[in-house]
Amino acid sequence: MPDAIDMATRARSSKLSASMDGQEVTVAGWVQDTRNLGGISFIQLRDRDGTVQLTLPKKKIEPGLFKELTTIPRESVIAVRGTLKANKEARAGFEIIPSAMAALNVAETPLPMGVIDKVNIDLDTRLSNRFMDLRREQVLAIFKVRDALLGGSREYLSSEGFLEVQTPKIVAAGAEGGATLFKLSYFGREAYLAQSPQLYKQSLMGAGFERIFEIAPAYRAELSDTVRHLSEFTSLDVEMSFVKDSDDVMKVVEGLVAHAITHVSRKCTAELSMLGIEPSEQKPPFPRLTHEECVRLLQGAGKKIEVGQDIDTDGEKMLGDIVKKEHGSRLYFITRFPTELKRGTFYAMRLDEDPSLTGYFDFEFDGEELVSGGQREHRLPRLIAQIEENDMSPEAFEFYLKAFRFGMPPHGGFGLGVERFLHMLLRLPNIRECVLFPRDRVRIAP
Ligand code: 4AD
Ligand code: MG
Repeated sequence: MPDAIDMATRARSSKLSASMDGQEVTVAGWVQDTRNLGGISFIQLRDRDGTVQLTLPKKKIEPGLFKELTTIPRESVIAVRGTLKANKEARAGFEIIPSAMAALNVAETPLPMGVIDKVNIDLDTRLSNRFMDLRREQVLAIFKVRDALLGGSREYLSSEGFLEVQTPKIVAAGAEGGATLFKLSYFGREAYLAQSPQLYKQSLMGAGFERIFEIAPAYRAELSDTVRHLSEFTSLDVEMSFVKDSDDVMKVVEGLVAHAITHVSRKCTAELSMLGIEPSEQKPPFPRLTHEECVRLLQGAGKKIEVGQDIDTDGEKMLGDIVKKEHGSRLYFITRFPTELKRGTFYAMRLDEDPSLTGYFDFEFDGEELVSGGQREHRLPRLIAQIEENDMSPEAFEFYLKAFRFGMPPHGGFGLGVERFLHMLLRLPNIRECVLFPRDRVRIAP
């Protein structure tokens, strides 16, 4: 380490306080801002937790050190040793008077984008300089919320007896239809990036794992460029055995989502406030509307749509507003999806009383699909028939179907888009905001 500043003694800004008045401390981070007022200079030094103020009274600081600290370019990384002084006028109630510094990495000028400047920077420029963009506190806040959202989800699922697993992402067959498959060359054979852990989740039910979840990347070659689709997203998947019907699965969906929102609301008050979001707790059970009821609500609101038809993006948004007005909830289920609309979902169980309907549901947040799920077809002859109906060959799925020949319990589950959850919870304009390094049709770097 240059200039003998011992990093072992380094404290992050959140560990320092006015009560440490007079103590020798070491801090390190990014030079966020420097103000030179002649006789005195101030530097805001930033780390992940916030900023500390370095105060440099010119007369009391060794001239070489004063010059180096006050001229180092913004966003350089430095380490500083100094004395902590309580000071009611400093933002955190204390300041640090430096006695030594080490310039660990001097930033080039000009910066590709500002970190604290109040100007609006377009998303594309931000994503192209994402390492810099992520230094901004309101951007970092999204990822602190993401961490809490996943922490709360794991806490809930673990307490409900779900085992966390990881399944392959290089796969031999698609689970969600051919149109969005990414093909890759795998030692001379064709393979795909997993669209969903669907087939493996079900295999694990055959393996006797009973209740599992996975939080992992999923890949979709989405051709449309929208504010809610990514080519690589994080799927929170759940699968559970011995369900009686899709209702059992829906209870886990609403329990999980409500718990995660409460966890975020309690843990991230500062981040939510920075993002302009009121903490809220959503109490299950959430409204359950059949697909047919939803279509009728939309018809009533003047939308041109027939029972059995797909609800388009505009319709989904309209429905979100109607349900909020009539049921007072931002979260709701659309149940009993018509078989025709879930045909590609060959693994979905159809209702015995009416095979033109499935027990499948979507779970919506402010008119955006957050979750799809339901009870699966565990009876082999029916599953094979449903694969064939989709013009797919059961032979291609033999690795999956085999598990249905030797003891497969009734089961069901769901997939939740983690970025969709954040997108809606934080009311962000674009889902790309919720991914560190988003992948879409045009972007594979950084
Ligand atoms: O609705 P999807 O396609 O359902 C499945 O993958 C099933 N295997 C789930 C199951 O267990 N039955 O995807 C699940 C969720 C969607 O509701 C959405 O939140 C998210 O994953 N999702 C995407 N998020 C961002 N970008 C994309 N391109 C997404 N595609 C799906
Ligand atoms: Mg879906």
